[in-house]
Amino acid sequence: MSIQVEVKASRHYTVQIGEGLLDAAGALLREKTAAGTACVVSGAQVDAFYGDRLVRSLEAAGFRALRFVHPSGEEHKNLETYGKLLGFLAGQGLSRSDLLVSLGGGVTGDLTGFAAATYMRGLDYVQIPTSLLAMVDSSVGGKTAVDLPEGKNLAGCFWQPLAVLCDPALLQTLPEEELRCGAAEVVKTAVLRDEALFRELEKAGLPAAFTEDAIARCVRIKRDLVEEDEFDRGSRKLLNLGHSFGHALELCSGYALGHGQAVAVGMTMIALASAEKGICSRETAERLRALLEKLGLPTEPEIPGKALLAALLRDKKRSGDSMDLVLPEAIGRCRVERVPASALEEWLRLGGAK
Ligand SMILES: NC(=O)c1ccc[n+]([C@@H]2O[C@H](COP(=O)([O-])OP(=O)(O)OC[C@H]3O[C@@H](n4cnc5c(N)ncnc54)[C@H](O)[C@@H]3O)[C@@H](O)[C@H]2O)c1
Ligand SMILES: [Zn+2]
Repeated sequence: MSIQVEVKASRHYTVQIGEGLLDAAGALLREKTAAGTACVVSGAQVDAFYGDRLVRSLEAAGFRALRFVHPSGEEHKNLETYGKLLGFLAGQGLSRSDLLVSLGGGVTGDLTGFAAATYMRGLDYVQIPTSLLAMVDSSVGGKTAVDLPEGKNLAGCFWQPLAVLCDPALLQTLPEEELRCGAAEVVKTAVLRDEALFRELEKAGLPAAFTEDAIARCVRIKRDLVEEDEFDRGSRKLLNLGHSFGHALELCSGYALGHGQAVAVGMTMIALASAEKGICSRETAERLRALLEKLGLPTEPEIPGKALLAALLRDKKRSGDSMDLVLPEAIGRCRVERVPASALEEWLRLGGAK
């Protein structure tokens, strides 16, 4: 039996969570679409593990299954890969009634979603997330994008999937480092709206971050935020907890810090700064730091404050003279606050930047 989470965004769809869904994908999707052709998109690493199984399942359900494999890695979430994918779809004669199936982490999901949104002005796509980050975060909510040389996710749009099939058994092959990075997003979600999940993580450590129950709780919270604010003008911004400082850390480290690691440091910094300003208690900030360390994530900013400030100020250009920061008030409750650019230096310093 799988857990089902209904998402009522501009399009309604179901996120199914349960072991065995990869092999059941063909039959499940047959119930949702009359598409003749299903094109599976995946990165080389994931394709080697799971591509054959998904294609077999789709063919057994009567789909003509195609396969587009891109090189793994964020550096391939770009216009070149996107152009190749569109060219492949056109060359194979896909029509608007056909289907794309993303099999992979957030890179593949974002790329496939953007291709689905734009090929012939839009066709259906399905997300089969294979990384913990994709299961708890990126596969739900319909944000799609590729990167430009000028920055991450600069070309993209909102395009909700037809369905999300999340099979936690696929995490068995995910490298532990990636599992920890995904766990940072689970902690983020717990700090936003689920204190009980936070306590379970404190008790059981990393294994508590990728149970079916933990994944489902994260998906429900993301679903709630997406339903409240599909187009990211208000409460969906809460999902950026730890991400403003995190993006700056990622950039300044030359991407030596993984996304989840950078978010872990970013969350610690914003919590420490919030404690200094009396927005949350010192104990809250220390609890968060201790949990992240228990999960094997970094919490110390090793990048000079000046460099972080410069990166933040470049980032901030996109929203005028101020920046939205997500501030923890307690474990399970956060708020968004607009902060003037001139105050960012102090926020970084209070967060422990040197
Ligand atoms: N759309 C959204 O709402 C949203 C939200 C958060 C992040 N994102 C995007 O997600 C991306 C990051 O996603 P990610 O962390 O999943 O990165 P990723 O897709 O690059 O996957 C991480 C690594 O794990 C490998 N991998 C994935 N699943 C595997 C498995 N089951 N077994 C073995 N190896 C596996 C991949 O090949 C890759 O090397 C970023 O581009 C980010 O911008 C999007
Ligand atoms: Zn993130």
